[in-house]
Amino acid sequence: MNLLNLFKYFLKASKNSKAVVEPQLGFWNDLNNKCGSIKHEDGGLKNGGYEDVKNIGRPIGRPIGRPICVLAPMADVTDCAFRYVINKYGKPDVLWTEFVSADGLVRASPVGKKKLLADLKFEKEEKLIVAQLFGSNPKYMEEACKIVADLGYDGIDLNMGCPDKSIERQKAGASMMKNPKLAKEIIFAAKRGAPNIPITVKTRVGYNKDELDSWLRNILEASPAVVTIHARTRKEMSKVPADWNYVKRAVAIRNEFQKDLIVTGKQHTLIFGNGDVTSVADAYNKAEESEADGVMIGRGIFGNPWLFSALQKPITRNASGDFDVVQNEPSLEEKLNVMLEHTQKFQDELGGIKNFAVMKKHFKAYVNGFDGAKELRAELMETNNAEEVREVILRFLSKID
Ligand SMILES: Cc1cc2nc3c(=O)[nH]c(=O)nc-3n(C[C@H](O)[C@H](O)[C@H](O)COP(=O)(O)O)c2cc1C
Repeated sequence: MNLLNLFKYFLKASKNSKAVVEPQLGFWNDLNNKCGSIKHEDGGLKNGGYEDVKNIGRPIGRPIGRPICVLAPMADVTDCAFRYVINKYGKPDVLWTEFVSADGLVRASPVGKKKLLADLKFEKEEKLIVAQLFGSNPKYMEEACKIVADLGYDGIDLNMGCPDKSIERQKAGASMMKNPKLAKEIIFAAKRGAPNIPITVKTRVGYNKDELDSWLRNILEASPAVVTIHARTRKEMSKVPADWNYVKRAVAIRNEFQKDLIVTGKQHTLIFGNGDVTSVADAYNKAEESEADGVMIGRGIFGNPWLFSALQKPITRNASGDFDVVQNEPSLEEKLNVMLEHTQKFQDELGGIKNFAVMKKHFKAYVNGFDGAKELRAELMETNNAEEVREVILRFLSKID
């Protein structure tokens, strides 16, 4: 090998062995340590008396325990009114906002900005709370992250999975998977804009097909604090069941990619799984099987703000060895009263900003599975404000007393 070739060889070798940068987990690290360990230090059980559970296969050097359980971002669903009731009746470990346009936060007219800032309204009781942004322009993403950090958010999540055409037209959301280089730039831009809070990514397993290996490695090169894997491709939308084998593979890819960080006890990117989780017990079982550090729950919360109350319950296993933890079960009257509380909060906080039609899909979710539900739903579809909803509910409750 002549000198020139030797030089080329070393240049190539050094390019291939890029040191993996330690991600800054911020609050995620504390949460992971708290949720990840139910081992007792002084004879008493941590986390308020959880039963000990068998090692759920956390990566080398990691403690054992339950996964972090978070609320998924859902546009026109996880607004401040719904988050208020979710937080009150069954607090998840971390709440997510609905997604907000990074470009819009920077460039919209004053009226447009007011609407976007309404999407980012939150109360301090909601902490820990993460804002989700979408965008494909690094400059605007950096500025938007500055704005979000100044609002007091605990973290920022970048949407790289949304299949909506209007988002993809902006080269954002799932479209990021077609432009891995830009995706990394967006993560770096977010980190520059909000250097003191952790930056996370929510994505899918590929665009038209399984591209998990190359796509996840690409994201990991930018060292986000968490990557949430929605276990479907963009093409699959939500039409096929989520395949949690993808989440298991994502954990293995992360373990291999960040091996040096893991064996030396440094912080490493957490992998969360997402898709079709219906309860906290289901989340625990899917995390045990996939070895995910956390689980994100979306549609399971529809009409069921009590879902995360199971996080505060002791963990038990049923006869077949599955986790069997139950949530608080409200009576019908309680359920309808909470629906009313939700509606009132929506009107107080978002009336005049968001259309009251947003509440209608919540009504459909709250009102089912009991005698008279169909007729009650039909009446609620005709309402236009919280006062009318109250009248309908009071009339219904007076009939069943
Ligand atoms: C109505 C609705 C709105 C959604 N909006 C967002 C969003 O703003 N950002 C995002 O990353 N995902 C969004 N999603 C996807 C969910 O966060 C989640 O990935 C998906 O629903 C799968 O999880 P699940 O089976 O637990 O619902 C949305 C889903 C629904 C049903």
